[in-house]
Amino acid sequence: MLAIGAFVLLEGNGRITFATGKPWLFYSFTPMAKKSEKLNVLIVEDSPVDQKMITGMLRNSGFGIFEFKICSSLRDSFVQLKKEKFDVVLLDLNLKDSKGLDSLKRIKKKYPDVPIVVHTGAYEDALGLKAVSFGAQDYLIKGKYQSYVLSKSLFYAVERKKVELELQTTLQRLKDTQSQLIQVEKLNVVGELASGIAHEVKNPLATILSGVELLKVRYHTEDKQLNAVLDALKLSAQKANHIIKDLLDFASLSRLKTRNEDLHLIIEQSLLLTEHQCRKRGIVVIKRFAKNFPKIKVDRNRIEQVFVDLILNAILSMRDHGELTISTGVQRLSENDLTKQPQKLSSLSMGDQVVVVDFDDTGTGIPAKHMDKIFDPFFTTRRSKGGVGLGLSVARTIMLNHGGLIYLENLFPKGTRARLIFESGSPANPIRFFSTQRQ
Ligand SMILES: Nc1ncnc2c1ncn2[C@@H]1O[C@H](COP(=O)(O)OP(=O)(O)O)[C@@H](O)[C@H]1O
Ligand SMILES: [Mg+2]
Repeated sequence: MLAIGAFVLLEGNGRITFATGKPWLFYSFTPMAKKSEKLNVLIVEDSPVDQKMITGMLRNSGFGIFEFKICSSLRDSFVQLKKEKFDVVLLDLNLKDSKGLDSLKRIKKKYPDVPIVVHTGAYEDALGLKAVSFGAQDYLIKGKYQSYVLSKSLFYAVERKKVELELQTTLQRLKDTQSQLIQVEKLNVVGELASGIAHEVKNPLATILSGVELLKVRYHTEDKQLNAVLDALKLSAQKANHIIKDLLDFASLSRLKTRNEDLHLIIEQSLLLTEHQCRKRGIVVIKRFAKNFPKIKVDRNRIEQVFVDLILNAILSMRDHGELTISTGVQRLSENDLTKQPQKLSSLSMGDQVVVVDFDDTGTGIPAKHMDKIFDPFFTTRRSKGGVGLGLSVARTIMLNHGGLIYLENLFPKGTRARLIFESGSPANPIRFFSTQRQ
């Protein structure tokens, strides 16, 4: 900096000149280090006079290097933005085909990542501030700025937008982590509660069951009503026992006994276990198994439990003559797979080689309002038909414990796909062919 007592002159070209008090001695320098990067600016302005003024300032800017295109309407600006990537938009809020904040909102809606500096008429500070609160990065009042302020504002807008986007990403990451924590905590609480209750109820239930068995053996009676009551008692106790077993399973899901297994064999076994229900409803099962399918490390019983539950869910969603298609394959994990899984709990990353098993049905599909809830413990839409709502929540815990993931999505025109994704330990195994057989 220069002499004390100097007074400052601001020139139209953005250079600041210090006058030292000695009339003949002037020091001139550019106020900030000149930016080396180039900014590509889209100027949306319909007044030829303003266009000329702005482009003149940008051409002679001492602050940075600018390239620009000019559009005279909002419609043109959409055409340009579609064609080319701009670093920043300088937007007049008084266009012929769009007025005020509406122009800003429309650009932001379609191109949320592009920084925008709005250009308002004289005495429109209130509108400029409002534009900033609606997401513009800065505002300039016509006739009240010069080359330096314009250049600085455009660079500033770009930096500000960068920070804003970084903040958004961080916030999203925070939200994801928070929902993961809540989910884990929820599962822990439910797990503890479930195992506590299950242990308490297990023994009395066993007593009831053996008592009913004994009564049926010891007291042969012709009384039909009494026999029916005993049968109902036995059935109810068995059903309760089943639920208790599910709950205990749920609490001990983290203990896995893994071995290299052929998933196709586990699918066949699960189909055998559900064959009766399939046949009863006239459901056709189609298998599209990949050739050269690798063996992977899983806990056979747990995975069978997942397969059976998904098959039963599919069967229950279909009326007579539905189709259940089970497909297997090896592929790279896509972004789509990662974003569809709820709560993003898995440790898998995009591009990982994975083994995929799909269960596609032609059933009712899942209403959008239920999609977020289907993995919650005890969420069921089939309570009146004996649904407990633990199937998917158990399936997800099992899949996560295997380092895999699960999600459900609706198929077009109807039906649901339940997709299981497992880590594949084996090297890239390009499997392209499917064999189709009907059962
Ligand atoms: N294949 C499917 N088609 C339609 N809805 C499904 C399907 N699978 C699961 N659902 C929905 O998810 C809910 C939860 O499933 P689940 O956890 O297995 O519990 P449950 O089978 O006891 O109801 C079901 O009640 C149903 O509303
Ligand atoms: Mg179920």
